[in-house]
Amino acid sequence: MKKILITLGIVSVIAAGCQNRPSPPPEAEIKKGYLIYQNNCSMCHWETVSPEQIKDIRKMVKEGKKPPFKAPPMSEVSARVKKFYPSEREFVNFVKDYITNPSKDKGVCLPMAYKIFGVMPPVGKNMSEDSKEAVAKWLYYRFKMSWEEFMEKHPH
Ligand code: HEC
Repeated sequence: MKKILITLGIVSVIAAGCQNRPSPPPEAEIKKGYLIYQNNCSMCHWETVSPEQIKDIRKMVKEGKKPPFKAPPMSEVSARVKKFYPSEREFVNFVKDYITNPSKDKGVCLPMAYKIFGVMPPVGKNMSEDSKEAVAKWLYYRFKMSWEEFMEKHPH
């Protein structure tokens, strides 16, 4: 009897553990999202940027030169959007809507981004719902830094 109770106890602890665990990121969808990023976003958004690159680029912009990309890098975009839309669902919904109907009013980028690059074109208008969902999830899970961590490492 004692053995059965102990076994039951262990089983219920494991079951409770499973229930509380957030569902893991959907691997296949994220892989698809990365391909979509490469085909639809990478011509403007670099994937990441090193602190040294940011420093050099900041200097160029101060001197009135154009930066080497047409939009903020995705590592920065991901951290910035998470500051305002922290949960996966809110984040994904924001990104899907923004890429379809972008506007300065809705955007959460630093004012500097609109000044340097202008507002993003509505590239999502020609994309399927599934593709938008996948690229938004990739953007959510690909980067782990909070906005505060990002700015500490890449001051600008
Ligand atoms: C033609 C260049 C261009 C392409 C292509 C592009 N973007 Fe952008 N994106 C921008 C610019 C410029 C900004 C900064 C200004 C803004 O937010 O509108 C931006 C900002 C963003 C933001 C932050 C929005 C905010 O202001 O809060 C997200 C999210 C984003 N892009 C996602 C994407 C995704 C996902 C793709 C590919 C499906 C993509 N972009 C393709 C130019 C581009």
